[in-house]
Amino acid sequence: MLFKENKKKHFVKDKFSSVSPRYDLLNSLLSCYVDHYWRRIAARELAGFSSGPILDLCAGTLPLSLELVRQHGCQVAAVDFCYDMLRFGANRTKGTEGINIICGDGEELPLPERAFQGITVAFGVRNLGNLERGLKEMFRVLRYGGKLVILEFSRPQNPVFRPIYRFYLHNILPLTAGIISGDKEAYKYLAESIDAFPAPEMVAELMKRAGFTQVRHWPLTMGIVTIYTARRMKPGAEKDAEGG
Ligand SMILES: C[S@@+](CC[C@H](N)C(=O)[O-])C[C@H]1O[C@@H](n2cnc3c(N)ncnc32)[C@H](O)[C@@H]1O
Repeated sequence: MLFKENKKKHFVKDKFSSVSPRYDLLNSLLSCYVDHYWRRIAARELAGFSSGPILDLCAGTLPLSLELVRQHGCQVAAVDFCYDMLRFGANRTKGTEGINIICGDGEELPLPERAFQGITVAFGVRNLGNLERGLKEMFRVLRYGGKLVILEFSRPQNPVFRPIYRFYLHNILPLTAGIISGDKEAYKYLAESIDAFPAPEMVAELMKRAGFTQVRHWPLTMGIVTIYTARRMKPGAEKDAEGG
């Protein structure tokens, strides 16, 4: 499934809308609850960066927004372009203070420059129509000294684990998730989008090209996911920061 940018956007919005009632259940089931651990680690990366507001981009049903509030008691702007995902999230976060929900496109954020102390994106960047444009938008809305944390699927490199994981991803997962969600195509897309996503080194390179410094990445759970962190430094301060 190869898409042009706009076609991908429509497809992605449509698929997330279709799976939204079962999204949280399937995430936990198919990852054996490990997805909670991954988000906990991602949120922890923003320790010390929560005095200002945090943007949780591609927030979906708000699991990471909730984790951010739980860990840091911060203000979170949760942005997603799929209204149905946000609606399910809003229901489960009723009574939680600090989460402000915004329906908007991550590639054209309806938000002012340098508004956020931190940004998180969990399992979102792979779904953007144009990753470079999305990264530039993240850079634009991040304050000087702020930190970006991205959590995204990657491809395990271990020669024994890799074929087992691929079999699971391309066969068992779409079948099981298709039955539960009623939309097998959405989970075929998940497997194919993981295959098509750039390798971590390339993603890190694109982050640098968007203007970020101190770009780091490391695998979690045998490389099923990769966590990326980066900073936006004041112009002129980048060299000191890289050296330090
Ligand atoms: C796999 S879900 C991740 C949801 C949540 N962050 C999590 O941890 O479960 C990806 C989300 O990205 C959203 N998304 C994809 N492209 C987007 C875009 N251009 N702008 C805003 N949201 C987008 C989808 O609507 C979907 O809710």
